[in-house]
Amino acid sequence: MSSIDNLIANVIREDIRAIGAYVVPDASGYIKLDAMENPYELPRELREELGQRLAEAVLNRYPTGSYATLKEQVIGKLGIPAGYDVMLGNGSDELIQIVATTVANQKRRATILAPVPAFVMYARSAQFAGADFVGVPLQKDFSLDMDAMLKAIALHQPAVVFLAYPNNPTGNLFATEDIEAILQAQGEHGLVVVDEAYQPFARETFMDRLGDFENLVVMRTVSKLGLAGIRLGYMTAAPQLLAEFEKVRPPYNVNVLTQVAAEFVLDHVEVLDAQAASINDERARLAAELAALPGVEVFPSAANFISMRVPDAAAVCAKLFEAKVLIRNLSKMHGSLANCIRVTVSTPEENSAFLNALKAALAQA
Ligand SMILES: Cc1ncc(COP(=O)(O)O)c(C=O)c1O
Repeated sequence: MSSIDNLIANVIREDIRAIGAYVVPDASGYIKLDAMENPYELPRELREELGQRLAEAVLNRYPTGSYATLKEQVIGKLGIPAGYDVMLGNGSDELIQIVATTVANQKRRATILAPVPAFVMYARSAQFAGADFVGVPLQKDFSLDMDAMLKAIALHQPAVVFLAYPNNPTGNLFATEDIEAILQAQGEHGLVVVDEAYQPFARETFMDRLGDFENLVVMRTVSKLGLAGIRLGYMTAAPQLLAEFEKVRPPYNVNVLTQVAAEFVLDHVEVLDAQAASINDERARLAAELAALPGVEVFPSAANFISMRVPDAAAVCAKLFEAKVLIRNLSKMHGSLANCIRVTVSTPEENSAFLNALKAALAQA
């Protein structure tokens, strides 16, 4: 072994050495339908005005530590209930990590639980924080298996249950009464994070239930709404809980350019809302056209993506890749997703390009 190998073996955690990094493929030259981004840009006039605001951003100073103006914008424009504050993150990825780190420690191993398949960062963040991750399989129709969830909660007493609402990668909304039962089962022994990353498309929320459940944390992001590039997530909960999470948040975690861009764009949030509405229209068209294809089983989606089962996911993805269309093969994510693929709902043109490429791929398979 070389000295660098020895060094790595001596200092890097074994469980980190055993895993691979989160891979993001290079999408240049491809129709990019793998990451649930909003395909629309801001209108030119807004981009020009944004350019001027960014030119005036104070880059030689750290961001204002309180983020008071940005928080006011988020609270005022993104539906935070009266009396609640928000905590901001460098994407909700960072907030997930902060939640995991806040509950886990070396002396008392904490458990973090989520239904699976779920957003991969729940398990990864649990691992990085040194917590145990328990995944409870969803039912065949991707609804919560409440018997199994409640048994697992009683057995493992998780510090946190993460529920993506709607769920990624399946796209469905869990039943309200199931989430309520989980909040009740967790009670004062555990948190429930309702991750509403896809709320702009689902238009369903637990924000208005914060007063009913002290253990409820509602997390969101501006990524899917159309600002994935600026990396801004936010979460809200009882003020006493937020105060604890604040201690773990790195100071200045949201940079000045993000701050300026978000403050400006949220003044024009109706532009993003209109884009989300047209993506929802396209979701309906795409789902109907996909359902008409022989051999394709489409799963209902309340998000800006559609997951489906095809006869041979690897062959379909390879053919789409050749046709310069990038989607996600879900097959290896979980046993219940064999031969499943996920596609982001995009512009009418890109959706049609995907449909045509998919039809050709299915015909050749
Ligand atoms: C359920 C869910 N939560 C959170 C995220 C991360 O969002 P962000 O871009 O804010 O880090 C994603 C991204 O795909 C997601 O699917």
